[in-house]
Amino acid sequence: MDARQMKIIAAAEALKHVENGMRLGIGTGSTAEEFVRLLAEKVAEGLEVRGVPTSERTARLCVELGVPLNSLDELPELDLTIDGADEVDGSLRLIKGGGGALLREKIVAAASRKMIVIADESKVVETLGAFPLPIEVNAFGLSATRIAIEKLAASLGLAGAIEQRKSGEGYFKTDGGHYILDASFGRISDAEALATSLNAIPGVVEHGLFINLASLAIIAGPAEARILAP
Ligand code: A5P
Repeated sequence: MDARQMKIIAAAEALKHVENGMRLGIGTGSTAEEFVRLLAEKVAEGLEVRGVPTSERTARLCVELGVPLNSLDELPELDLTIDGADEVDGSLRLIKGGGGALLREKIVAAASRKMIVIADESKVVETLGAFPLPIEVNAFGLSATRIAIEKLAASLGLAGAIEQRKSGEGYFKTDGGHYILDASFGRISDAEALATSLNAIPGVVEHGLFINLASLAIIAGPAEARILAP
């Protein structure tokens, strides 16, 4: 079974949690896109849901496939968000933002009663941090913000390169017009401390540590999908 098939299996399992009339947060990334494709089939068959997309990219796919959308301001309280992840640990802590949508993803997840993560086995880790942590930063004072992050990391015993994410010849910009620093910290032994401290740096808009947001994770392996619950 290839990686795409596993993503489809996880997405199909997640679809079983979607009920008629739900207000849905819709994630970003290749796994979330498989969910959108399956959801669109159900919508075509008569399922009534309203979706709030976590990125312009997801919004475009939803429009193309006929999934009805609203903004988060129109639907500020959501029943369920389905989204992918770059890493998930046994306590359902996540690293997200590989696709650059972490800010909207976190706002949407926080506005949802429940968040279901869909992923394949390759995303499950014992300790977060092998995947570089995306940190969304304001363009103003980028160098000062980077130095503040480096000092914070050193104070927490974390080291590793911090690279500004590129896109083609230039730098990647998020849907919110910010930049991303990808921090290769390696093993993050205290994700809570890092998350709190990053939020205290003024130039940091948001970071990809999602803690206490996921309600369960559907993890697809070659044979079947398993559930990770707190
Ligand atoms: C988008 O910003 C990310 O948080 C994605 O959810 C994450 O990168 C997972 O993407 P894939 O499903 O493509 O691996």
